Amino acid sequence: MNKLTFPILAVLADGKFHSGEALAQQFGVTRATVYNAIQAAQAIGITVFSVRGRGYRLPKPVTLLDADAIFQACGEYASWFHLQVLAQVDSTNRYLMQESARGVAHGTCAVAQVQTAGRGRRGRTWLSQLGGSLTFSLLWRFQCGAAGLSGLSLVIGLALLRALHELGLTDVQLKWPNDLVVMHQGQWHKLGGILIELQGDMEGPSAAVIGIGLNLDIEQGMRQQIDQPVLGLNQLSGQTLNANELLGRCLAALAVHLNQFTEHGFTYFQQSWMAHHAFHQQAVNLLMANGQVVPGQVIGVAEEGSLLVETANGQQRFNAGEISVRSAA
Ligand code: BTN
Repeated sequence: MNKLTFPILAVLADGKFHSGEALAQQFGVTRATVYNAIQAAQAIGITVFSVRGRGYRLPKPVTLLDADAIFQACGEYASWFHLQVLAQVDSTNRYLMQESARGVAHGTCAVAQVQTAGRGRRGRTWLSQLGGSLTFSLLWRFQCGAAGLSGLSLVIGLALLRALHELGLTDVQLKWPNDLVVMHQGQWHKLGGILIELQGDMEGPSAAVIGIGLNLDIEQGMRQQIDQPVLGLNQLSGQTLNANELLGRCLAALAVHLNQFTEHGFTYFQQSWMAHHAFHQQAVNLLMANGQVVPGQVIGVAEEGSLLVETANGQQRFNAGEISVRSAA
């Protein structure tokens, strides 16, 4: 990013007009330099309105991420985390995988004001916008190997669900394996997703980069680029959530859940996970990576986190795949 782009965006975060001249004066540069910095923001998909005679402004006010405010919202768990607030990054997961390989500390959380090439599950991209999304990754190191981490992604979903419920968003539910969803206008909408990438071998020790994307405010234009119904937490709650508060609460809940997971494994969470599963005992189609579609009824999740489905061929366990709703025929 142009060195001046983010400092200028921080000024524009109030959602008000700021003239090129005033910005140039504030940063001790020329108006052309301000213009270039704004162009650099637009080049990475940030909408900045430019009106002759009035200056520049963002479409709406934005609360920028702030390490002190995040730590404060973590409460008693603040000391568990090392926070890196990045102005711009391609993917917080890619970044933290690289930092992890370099030996960065357990509990490091990288959060981006702007993420330009977010990774989603199943090779998808994850779209986000300045102020419209919360995108972060958390590095958690385990003594055990990757083989001992089954169910981890489900536990992360449960931790986030608990943080959102505590903030009053009690309609949020889980969709196996780890999406956060809500029923809105008769349809399930995705509010957030989780992508876990592992380092280390099956025997251990291992490291998990836990990537989390939460939608806060999804603009119509972005919604149209996403191949499923999505909703922002702001749109759900009818108020503007503070991203710093939200991140702090999520980290605190993650600390508690990760600690319990390390001690007891997924079985400790199995019942409560099922109690929050939007598709528990529902008729679904399971879409496999090879395009196969398996119809069945969800009967639960197993002790290692796989999905249990009653199918025409009897009860089957699925470790991968994607649930889609099957309307009752
Ligand atoms: C999904 O497809 O549901 C998972 C989406 C995970 C997106 C988050 S955003 C922060 C972190 N960095 C990434 O590149 N991806 C994850």
